[in-house]
Parts: sequence; C-alpha cells; structure tokens
Amino acid sequence: MGLLEAYLDWKGQALRALEENKGLGVEAGREVVVCGMGGSGIVGDYLASLSTRLGGLPVYVVKDYRLPRWVGDESLVVAVSYSGNTVETLSCYSEAVEKKAKRLVVTSGGRLGERAKRLGDPVAVVEKGPAARAVFASLFYATLAPLAEAGAVRVGLRELETAARVLEPSVEARREAESLARATSGGRVVVFTACCEYAALAWRLKNEYNENAKAAAKAESLPELGHNEIQSWPSAAEKYTLVLLDPGEEPHTSLLQGAAGIAGLESYRLVLRGESFLERILWGSLVGGLASIKLAELRGVDPAEIPAIKEYRGRVEELLARIEGAWG
Ligand code: F6R
Repeated sequence: MGLLEAYLDWKGQALRALEENKGLGVEAGREVVVCGMGGSGIVGDYLASLSTRLGGLPVYVVKDYRLPRWVGDESLVVAVSYSGNTVETLSCYSEAVEKKAKRLVVTSGGRLGERAKRLGDPVAVVEKGPAARAVFASLFYATLAPLAEAGAVRVGLRELETAARVLEPSVEARREAESLARATSGGRVVVFTACCEYAALAWRLKNEYNENAKAAAKAESLPELGHNEIQSWPSAAEKYTLVLLDPGEEPHTSLLQGAAGIAGLESYRLVLRGESFLERILWGSLVGGLASIKLAELRGVDPAEIPAIKEYRGRVEELLARIEGAWG
C-alpha cells in the first residue's frame, strides 16, 4: 500500500483498531506514562491533551531513553512503537519491567512485540503500513481503546467510534489540504501555531511537513508564544509563513492574526472542523497530513523516503550497542 492510500484509509484504520483492541484488561494505575518517538510518540501528546481537556488520569509523555525516577508499580507505562524496534522506547520498556510498573505495549511487532509476548503483557496491535505516520489512526485508536476501557482517559468507546467519521477523506478535507499546501509552498519556514491543548496538533503537522515534504517547519503555541516568539516576528517577515490552527472556539486566533499582520508576516488560517475536541484534532491531522503529501509533490520530493531519519536511527543503535558492550 502506498503512503497516500494509507492516509486515505484512516477511518478504516481507526475502526479496525477499536474493534481489535478491546478487552485487553489493562490496569489504569495512578498515572499514565506514554513512551514513544516520532510518529508513535505523538500519540502520547494527543493523549495528554485529551486528558487535560476531558479529564482522566494525568498523562506524562516521555520521548527519551529513560523513565522519570518517580515511575513505580502504581504507574501505567504505555510503550508505543509502530516498528517495535525503536531503541528509546525499548529502553523505557525495560525500565518499566524493572520498576514493576503496570504495562501496555502498542506495536505492529518487532522486538518490543516479542518481549511483551514473552512477559505476558497486554499488546494492542497496530496494523502494518508504509510508515508510522501513515498508520496514525491505527496507532492512536489502538492506544485509546484499552485506555478508554480502563477509564484512564475519559472518553467512551462509542464516542471514539463516532469521531472516526471525520477521518473520511471528504471533498472538503482534500480541498482544504490542497489549499494549505499551496499557501505554504513559497519556501519559507512554516510555523504552525495553536492554542492550548491544540498545541499537540501543531507538533504533529510540523513533523508531517518535516518527514513527508522535507520542509523546514516549527510549532509554537499560545499563550506562551505571546511572551517570547512574537517579539521575533518583525525580523522574520520574509522568512516565515504562519499557519493558524483555528478551532473556532476561543478568541486567540484573531489576536494572533492581528499580531502577524502588524509584523508583516504571511499567514494562513486553517479552520478545524468537527463537533468535539477529539474530532477537531483528528480532522486537522488528516488535512495536515494530506497537505504535507501534496507539498512533497509540489516540491518534487518523495514523501515516503526518510533517509536522514533512517541513518540517525542506525547510528543510535550502533552507539548504544557499543556502550552496552563496554559496560559488559
Ligand atoms: C514516522 C516515522 C518516525 C518514527 C520514529 C519512531 O513515520 O517514521 O517518526 O515514528 O522513528 O519509530 P517507531 O514509530 O517505529 O517507534
């Protein structure tokens, strides 16, 4: 399956993941610690936003080799890795085992899948696809289903099923994606900005632009950006294209648009469709993902290839093998 085809099947991915990952018997614990990198790690950011917004257990996101010291047998550690072979996530999972934390593994297989099976840990299965970012809906729903069932995130399975409808690649979503891609094709650094819990979406779209379109992009969030970033805008007038992620439910976007106008910055407003927070971040993820693939086409690059990331991953593995070898 091609990259674009996989994105166009996100609704199907979400519904299959929901169906297949019920009844895993996950224990919620006192807090949820989500470990993962890149296209898998973003699931942690989305979960943290959901729990901040809707309630549930506190969610901490770890994009690192080590777990926080306070993690213990009352914590639920969720190791998310599409490939199951990401060293940072494998390392956190090993620590979770040592600390006797409650555990959930979300993966399509790899070393993580094998270890979890050997230990008898619950495994939420992610479907195989061309890349982690292309099976986002499977990753997110495979993580959400058991956590929702365990009461760790205050969202019902029914609500998850309903929200998946916005992942249908409608004519409107495709039109929005095309228009966003064109508005950001001028070669400037694309700055995704969002307010509050929508910041996770800005991070996701920045990553999508980096990986699919090979485009320079960054993510900034309100209200914090009003206390630092904004001061640099007049000097970045020729360098940035601002993308304002607008859920239409808080007043910050017009404030931001005003500031961008004063600084002479090019800006584009992406109105997030949907009837709930969850629907709006899902819809924004789809439109941003499709826009990044369209931008790849406009820039003449292959959205599926990520050679620099592959090389980095290989080097980290080598380095760790050497360190572990030296430690005996
Ligand atoms: C996204 C992508 C990377 C990986 C990251 C972690 O498509 O390829 O961002 O997600 O390198 O790898 P996994 O997800 O396999 O743990």
